[in-house]
Parts: sequence; C-alpha cells; structure tokens
Amino acid sequence: MPVIIEPFRIKVVEPIALTTRRERARHLAAADYNLFALPAAHITFDLLTDSGTSAMSAAQWGAMMIADESYAGSRSYYRFEEVVRDLTGYRHIIPTHQGRAAERILFQITVRPGMIIPNNNHFDTTRANIEYDGGEARDLVVGQASDTASDFPFKGNVDLDRLEDLCRRHARRIPFGMLTITNNTGGGQPVSLENVRAVAKILHAHGLPLILDACRFAENAYFIKLREPGQSKRSVTDIAREIFRLADGCTFSGKKDGLVNMGGLLALNDEKLAAEARNVLILTEGFPTYGGCAARDLEALAVGLREVLDESYLEYRLASVRYLAEGLNRWGIPTVKPPGGHAVFIDARKLLPHIPSHQYPGQALAIELYMAGGIRSCEIGSVMFGRRGNKGRVIPSSLELVRLALPRRVYTQRHVDRIIEICAGVASFAPRLAGVQMTYCPPYLPHFTAKFRPLKAAAGQRAAGTTARGEKRARAARG
Ligand code: F0G
Repeated sequence: MPVIIEPFRIKVVEPIALTTRRERARHLAAADYNLFALPAAHITFDLLTDSGTSAMSAAQWGAMMIADESYAGSRSYYRFEEVVRDLTGYRHIIPTHQGRAAERILFQITVRPGMIIPNNNHFDTTRANIEYDGGEARDLVVGQASDTASDFPFKGNVDLDRLEDLCRRHARRIPFGMLTITNNTGGGQPVSLENVRAVAKILHAHGLPLILDACRFAENAYFIKLREPGQSKRSVTDIAREIFRLADGCTFSGKKDGLVNMGGLLALNDEKLAAEARNVLILTEGFPTYGGCAARDLEALAVGLREVLDESYLEYRLASVRYLAEGLNRWGIPTVKPPGGHAVFIDARKLLPHIPSHQYPGQALAIELYMAGGIRSCEIGSVMFGRRGNKGRVIPSSLELVRLALPRRVYTQRHVDRIIEICAGVASFAPRLAGVQMTYCPPYLPHFTAKFRPLKAAAGQRAAGTTARGEKRARAARG
C-alpha cells in the first residue's frame, strides 16, 4: 500500500506555542485544572475538539470574498440552499449559527415535559437542550458500544429491539427519533446504512419522523463504503444522499464535516414545523436567509460541504485518526476500538484502574497530557456525563474516556508522531498518577466550567510503575 498523504499543500501557516513544564504547571493552576479554561496561546497540540477548528481551503476563502451580505434574500443563501438541498433532498433549509442552535429551535417547538427522544447516543448539547425543555434523552445504542475492546464495525448502531419496544409502548410521548452520525459520545463510531434504514422503518411504522444529527455525515458515509458489504463500489456522495433521504430532516453543525469555523443548519421536510422553526429563528438567530451567520459563513459552508465528500480527503482523514490510534496502541495505551472518524478515545478506566470514578480518571489523564507536552484533550466520562447526587456522591458514566480529536487538515504526521511520544511517556508512569477532586460543579454541562484540585498520589502508588525504561520515556515526554 502506498503511503496515504495529506492531499493538500500548505500555503498559510500559524505558529504553535512551545512551553516548558514549569509554565504549563502555572497555566493549569490558573485554569483550576479545567482545560477549557486554558488560553489557546499556551497550548501546543489543541485536540480539544474537531469542531470549528478546520483549516479552510483556498476555494472557501475565495468564496467568502464574493459573499452577498444583504439582510434578506442574499445570493449566498441561495447558493448555500442549493448545495444543501442537492445533498440532503430536504424541502426547508434553515441556517443557524451552529449545531446547538438548530437543536434548541427544533426542541423548543416539539419537546414538552414527559416526552422521550430516542437516539443512539445524544451528544451533550443535544441532551442538555432536550432536558431543558423537560424531555428525556434516551440512549439506545447497541451493546457492543460499551465494550471498548470490541472491533464491531458499526458501534454507532441503534439497538432495534429496544427502539421497537420503546415505540410500541410510548409512541404518543415520542415527537421524533434521532440518529447521531457518527456517534460522537460512543467514540466517533459509525452507523451502518442497514441500521439507518431499519431505524427509519421502525419510526415511520409508528408514524414518527427521523431527524439526523448529521455533524459527521461524510465520515460516516465513508465508513459505510469501507466496511459495509455491498457498499464499496458506491461513491460516498451517493451513500450520504441516501442516508439523508431516509430521514425527515436533520440538525447539522457545519463546524465538523462542513469544514468551517462557524455555521450550522436545521433542515426539515415538514412544512408546518419549518414555519414554526423560522418564527423562533427570527426571534433568536436572525432572518431566515442568514439565521445567525454572515453570508460569507454560508459561502464557506457551501464549498466545504462539497470538499468534505472528496474521497482522497476522506481516505487521508480516516488514515490520520487510525495512525494516531495504532501509535498509541503500540505503546500499550488502550483506546476505543476500532478508531472512530474524528478522534481517538483513550480508555482512562483501563489505563488508570487505580483511580475511582469519583476521582475522575479521565480528567486526571487529560491534565497530565497537558503537563507532559502541552496537549489539550477532552474528558468524556464522569465529569461530562456523571450525575452528582447528594453529599457529593457521583453516579459514574459508563465509560471513562479521554478524547484526542483531530482538527481537519490542521496537523501533519510529524505532529501526530510527537503526540504519540508524549502519550507514551505519560502511560509509562500511569500507575503513579493520582485522581482529582471537583471543587465546583455548575448545574448544566459541567465539563465547560467545573473546577478541580489534583489529589496527592498515595506513597505506594508513587513507587509503583517506576522503571528505567518508563523514566526514560517520561523524560522524553516532558521534553
Ligand atoms: N451534535 C454532535 C454529535 C456534536 O458532536 C456537536 C458538537 C453538536 C451536536 C453541537 O454542535 O457545537 O455546532 O453547537 N460537538 C463538538 C465536539 C462541540 O467537540 O464534539 P455545535
């Protein structure tokens, strides 16, 4: 197999911060050990998210220059609408400033207290927006998803029996079903085409619409081409078009597979719902032909939606994520298998079995990856999804993961090599890492603004895991 290359040349560059361990320790303390509170100027490898962090192409920047910034009926809106309609087939295309704005508008007009919205896994903003309106966000992902070592190719699939059962018992309480492609919470795992078809069939049989959370639709469609029997000869565009047409609408954050830094949309077939959505949009986002975006954002998104379906891009994209995962595995670092589309998820519970959930092993690891080499990652475990009961009790999340999300078209293979080196160094002294205490917990989406305090490692724990090889790697990781 020839080496898979970055299918682009670089013509604009941006320096990255190189810091010392002592500086990083100071920055972390000032941020109360929450990586969201760190200024980006102090970060070497920013793997916090793949959202809004893509490098745009020359064609996207060029399109922005010809944007028509008219308040109503801008030419840019019609170009954007045409691209989205061609891809999705939906009748009503409503721009929003990002994905969660589309979610909020949709849920505000459809979700009432006591309602249930099934999904494979709801992303955190989706869940929070549903709960804010009094609904219940119900996760129905297949059992294989919780086994991080399973190589099951479509761990984003919905458990069809559970969906059927839920619909049979509660159809009147379900405004619509959702499907997140790819399944971010579960590790960036794809949903098979067969599963999308089956989910649509079950919902439709009960008279319920299917709404996609389509943030990473192109990566999902490419996984289908690679992994699903009978799909290898189809173009990714063709597969993506079929997925959208099986559903009745979508929420979409352009900040992922739209290859833009800002922008999103809500698309619906239902005329009445779309009219209500536009009314709320006007109140909170803007006129329906810009909806919270500048026209230049819509132009960039229209170009991005075509570029993301380029199969040499998708081949490189999935190969870079796989390269990072395999590099980590070579050093014995457990990751969610198989690697997902936009990120590698380290299994912190397996790497740090001595740290209990209420001491947040994922957060402890994320802090150490920053300390060791300036990597910013994101805890996806009991900080994000744990429930905090009375007297400080923590009901843990089912998985304790740390996500290394790769921004699109941003880091080179050498950057990834250094990231692997840093992680290997940290893993070599994993048994000596201690947990953290959460000292402040906000009522919603705690990971964004929670505060932490590192706990001291027990004496026996400090001595464990100290080997000559480990020390050497640890020194290399510290830089
Ligand atoms: N749905 C999924 C599956 C997401 O991953 C995100 C964002 C959203 C909805 C909301 O979109 O950010 O444009 O409002 N995910 C980002 C992430 C934040 O880091 O995974 P948004």
